[in-house]
Amino acid sequence: PSPMQPPGSPREEWSTKTAFILATLGSAVGLGNIWRFSYVAGDNGGGAFLLVYLGAVLLLGLPLLLAEFSLGRSSKGDVVQAFRHAAPRSPLRHFGMLAVLGSTLILSYYSVIAGWTLSYLTDYLLGLLLPQQTGDHGERFQSLIADPIEPLFWHFLFMAITVWVVMAGVRGGLERLSRLVMPLLGVTVVGLAIYAMSLPGSAAGVAFLLSPDWSALSDPAVYLAALGQAFFSLSLAMGVLVTYGGYLGREHRLPSAAGAVATGDVLFAIIAGLAIFPAVFAFGMAPAQGPVLAFVVLPQVFSTMPGGSGVALAFFFLLAAAALTSAVSLLEVPVAWAMRVLALSRRQATLVLGATVFLLGVPSSLGFGPWESVQLAGRGILDTIDHVVSNLLLPVAGTGLALLVGWVWSEREAIAEADLVEGFWARLWLILLRYIIPCAILLILLRSLGLL
Ligand code: PHE
Repeated sequence: PSPMQPPGSPREEWSTKTAFILATLGSAVGLGNIWRFSYVAGDNGGGAFLLVYLGAVLLLGLPLLLAEFSLGRSSKGDVVQAFRHAAPRSPLRHFGMLAVLGSTLILSYYSVIAGWTLSYLTDYLLGLLLPQQTGDHGERFQSLIADPIEPLFWHFLFMAITVWVVMAGVRGGLERLSRLVMPLLGVTVVGLAIYAMSLPGSAAGVAFLLSPDWSALSDPAVYLAALGQAFFSLSLAMGVLVTYGGYLGREHRLPSAAGAVATGDVLFAIIAGLAIFPAVFAFGMAPAQGPVLAFVVLPQVFSTMPGGSGVALAFFFLLAAAALTSAVSLLEVPVAWAMRVLALSRRQATLVLGATVFLLGVPSSLGFGPWESVQLAGRGILDTIDHVVSNLLLPVAGTGLALLVGWVWSEREAIAEADLVEGFWARLWLILLRYIIPCAILLILLRSLGLL
């Protein structure tokens, strides 16, 4: 046993490598792939965005995934320990704490949106929102999010479920949930895509997602959006992958696990896009609708589609379940940290942090109703936090991570911990971490801030 764990309590571990991959994929696949990907792609030129996004995943996402897994597994501790372990004297060790704060912050608003999906799911389940009804879906959505109490109830419920899973531990909670949910999600999203693509008039939606509009590539905002989306969707730079890697046994190889997670996550986003855009186009709607795409445009589409209520139910189940497997991973980061630093039991740590996250999320929720006048650069509270987190905090934390593993961690140790051997791939990995990733992030950030 390592000196970090309290005596008599062996550190928790995944039961198999497949369980680790499923749980990590569960973290990666979430609102980011369905709700966020579809509107960011819609707003940034569809196919062109997809191309830049794939580039970002390959060049930045994959190497950073591997870096996080290695860092976590080598220290077998929480994210703060992992950063300290690899860089005991460098100022970069403090980036571990940034991850604890960042994941707590992301979860606070993530849960608000996940709460909306619970509300929709329940409505469709109860048949209250009969898709045949010709109600105004925009109004329905507005009245839900602007209500001072109702969205807080759903946010609370979602956090309560998240807490319940995390409390059950690595194997009994995180692993069990992903084993149950991930295969179901795969079947649901593929089924939805097949159905959407069979609708008359859906081809334009497929073309929108898959054929690039080259002119979008001259807009620097597209690159920042792709970068932010890659970080968000792969759960990068928030300590999740470090923490999850810390629960993996030495005998499992990391590069193939990183490859599987990146591939699965991208595939999931594309298939979700093939479920959403064809349906949107088939019913003559516009794709660039911002965040309301999933909550207003799609319900509208469902209400005119044959078999729409079943499809709606499947879709909101997909959203809510995918959000849950991501939320538990976000909560696990501060929980693992608090268990060690504050010497709390898993139960206590989960309850305290769950309550903290719920409270932190309250302003994000109220920002759509009573606190609507609180705006920054035309964005409400939740959008402001999401924007700052995805487009600033995540890239900065990602740079810190790349620099730490690339420059500060001993080269020999980093290569060995990543299960690489000295040679082409190890060199490429280090070059990406040392030069390409920090420079690319810096360039994109400066351009988008108008400083370049
Ligand atoms: N990757 C998750 C999603 O796409 C969100 C997330 C971000 C989870 C950061 C963990 C850490 O929904």
